[in-house]
Amino acid sequence: MQVYTLKNKNIEIDFIERGGQIISVRVPDVKGNIADVVVGYDTIEEVLAGDAYFGAICGRYANRIVKGALEIDGEKFQLDCNNETNHLHGGFDGFNSRNWKVAPISLDQFVQSYQLSLTSEDGDQNYPGKLEVSVIYGLTEDNQLVIEYAAETSKPTVINLTSHAYFNLNGTGNGSAANHELQLNASNYTPISEELGTASGEIVSVHNTPFDFTNPKSIKIACNTDHEQINMIGGIDHNFVIDDFDSSVKLVGTLSDPESGRKMEVYTNQPGIQIYTGAHFDGSEKGKNDVPIEKCAGIAMETQIFPNSPNHEHFPNAILRPGEKYTHVCIYKFC
Ligand code: BGC
Repeated sequence: MQVYTLKNKNIEIDFIERGGQIISVRVPDVKGNIADVVVGYDTIEEVLAGDAYFGAICGRYANRIVKGALEIDGEKFQLDCNNETNHLHGGFDGFNSRNWKVAPISLDQFVQSYQLSLTSEDGDQNYPGKLEVSVIYGLTEDNQLVIEYAAETSKPTVINLTSHAYFNLNGTGNGSAANHELQLNASNYTPISEELGTASGEIVSVHNTPFDFTNPKSIKIACNTDHEQINMIGGIDHNFVIDDFDSSVKLVGTLSDPESGRKMEVYTNQPGIQIYTGAHFDGSEKGKNDVPIEKCAGIAMETQIFPNSPNHEHFPNAILRPGEKYTHVCIYKFC
């Protein structure tokens, strides 16, 4: 499997066509020391055999749809229940496991860029509508990894694409990311219901909860707080509601590592961001440099529409209709 590399004078990013998986992001610290800041594996063989969500493009609907139950304009569709009783990241054969068509593309704003394309047929994983998807991976002079998603459909469908890299700004395998500080422009979050296994439909203030990242706070402090929502899943696996959402691309959060001084800003035009601290990692699998992948090995920051949006009328709209264009921008800027 071919490895494609995006390069500017500071940063190198490797990805493959399977799932568009970003397998390596090599970034300098303030002193110029380079580290690979995404969780993953040393070899392509391990990548192909390992966790297929690492750095991948998830879809057609990233995150969960309760019981895989979808209803569009009164018509019901039963999606795969590949995550206990729920549908997760597009089903058993989600976009993360597809071979995307990759081609270099020349765009003024990027030092280097590639276009990844995929056709998802009508009925793919039981979703209605033939979907044409394009994802641009671009790297700017000023160290922004820009991900631009676009899609069009032949019939009304739902769509929610995201990128699933786990970041450890001290270098993956070089200790936990739990001491990273997180700041989010999110005054509200969507709590999880134990029964549904995902967002309950409530939108709750982060004030006086471990989910208050309106000022920078260590992930460890939040994850060690005795709080029903943290205890339920052993960390953070929650969607945050971006303040002042208006579909424009804006800064929504910053992850920083006090040890290396590396910092990453996240920009998006999406209404939500899932923060996932990797509660399911238990050290049983080895990652880069043969280091076991433990809880909090990296932090996923997945820009998105809210979980289970298609079943909550007051959540942002996830329906895409013929003639409309889905456009999603996610920028990871290394500072
Ligand atoms: C979800 C987690 C899930 C993980 C699987 C994340 O996006 O929020 O609940 O376990 O993906 O890789």
